[in-house]
Amino acid sequence: MRKRIVAGNWKMNKTFREAEDLITEIADKLENIDLRGTEVVLCPPFLYLEMATDIAKESRFKTGAQNIYDNDSGAFTGEISAVMLKGLEVDYCIIGHSERRKYFHEDHAFLARKMEAAIRNHIRPVFCCGEVLAERDAGIHFNVVREQLEESVFFLSPEEFRQVVIAYEPIWAIGTGVNATPAQAQEMHAFIRGLISGKYGTEVASETSILYGGSCNAGNAKELFDNPDVDGGLIGGASLNSGEFLQIIQST
Ligand code: PGA
Repeated sequence: MRKRIVAGNWKMNKTFREAEDLITEIADKLENIDLRGTEVVLCPPFLYLEMATDIAKESRFKTGAQNIYDNDSGAFTGEISAVMLKGLEVDYCIIGHSERRKYFHEDHAFLARKMEAAIRNHIRPVFCCGEVLAERDAGIHFNVVREQLEESVFFLSPEEFRQVVIAYEPIWAIGTGVNATPAQAQEMHAFIRGLISGKYGTEVASETSILYGGSCNAGNAKELFDNPDVDGGLIGGASLNSGEFLQIIQST
């Protein structure tokens, strides 16, 4: 059975104290709910990961970074490596978020090297893919997503790929309040699972968690997660409020 996952991508938000309060609130609330196997992942800014992983040891969530660099160490001022994250016992890392692609010009080849770095250090990558609105309007959204996966992910061996989580995040839905419809999400998720099946076989494909991201909130999570190929969500804005985030977790 593949894992259902709800991951909170905090992006560049919260002071240290606010982050500590929010993580503690989420940890407390998680004590009292039936998770039914759903994995909860918190991805705060790098600076807060040590604090988050300390709390996680006594709690029911895992931690993830929002980014990594592709080298393990060296003269790369300001960067953070997968080795460093592993040293803090961080479990996951988001790779290829559209904001990294857009504002930091991360291309397919760079993202492929980041995927390699995560895998060789046993950090589970959450690889983000998705199209801009003009690409959907032009009817090329499937090709866009196929290329993102082929160029940055499908070089992995089947054994390596088993560590990967995919997040489909249509860029037009991120932070806009306009989510993909459940039908649009299911259609793309089924397409992605088909690509994985073609590359790695049906067994690997059926075990891969494919998350939806983009204006997912407490009001729409259930209808999105109810689809057979939607295995949870990557949640931005709505993960910054413990009550709403918990409602989303309970929608899986
Ligand atoms: P959003 O962001 O939920 O605020 O739309 C999702 C994401 O960027 O991962």
